[in-house]
Amino acid sequence: MPSPWIVQWAGLIAPASTVLDVAAGRGRHALFFAERGQTVTAVDRDTSSIAPYAKLEIVTADLEDGSPWPFPGRQFGAVVVTNYLHRPLMPTLLEAIASGGVLLYETFMVGNERFGKPSRPDFLLKDGELLELVHDRFSVVAYEARLISEPRMAMVQRIAARRSS
Ligand SMILES: C[S@@+](CC[C@H](N)C(=O)[O-])C[C@H]1O[C@@H](n2cnc3c(N)ncnc32)[C@H](O)[C@@H]1O
Repeated sequence: MPSPWIVQWAGLIAPASTVLDVAAGRGRHALFFAERGQTVTAVDRDTSSIAPYAKLEIVTADLEDGSPWPFPGRQFGAVVVTNYLHRPLMPTLLEAIASGGVLLYETFMVGNERFGKPSRPDFLLKDGELLELVHDRFSVVAYEARLISEPRMAMVQRIAARRSS
């Protein structure tokens, strides 16, 4: 099931846009956007669980081991990230969004350690971190930092933002 946050804000992404799903996992969001007719690229170090689909490009790459970014010079109409955080990658992800394009990002934040994993500070956004990340180049459409109870209790931070033209 796609995240309700991604479903709620998917409409910000133009129908003909390209979408990059970063650390796509089993591809739940890649598939969600592909089913909407968008051209999707899903990248993860393990893509073995992502089913092929029309207009879905599946890229296997480790995004943390120092290998070159697999999409040099490429920009997308949207970058989607859920339940993944690797801070050194953040500038690259923002740069991969075309002017007018959309960032949908949702992951765990400080306070989540009360509920289990992830609990390491490296994997938890700090208070306001997503807002700070985008503040000078994006306009924020929606932002939340809150406790959720589904699919399980967790502290999450999430943003929908559009890159300034
Ligand atoms: C918690 S899962 C989230 C998957 C997906 N975004 C979702 O929400 O369903 C984290 C994903 O990050 C990927 N990942 C972790 N380290 C990675 C790395 N170094 N390079 C690429 N992908 C990585 C894992 O393989 C896994 O699929």
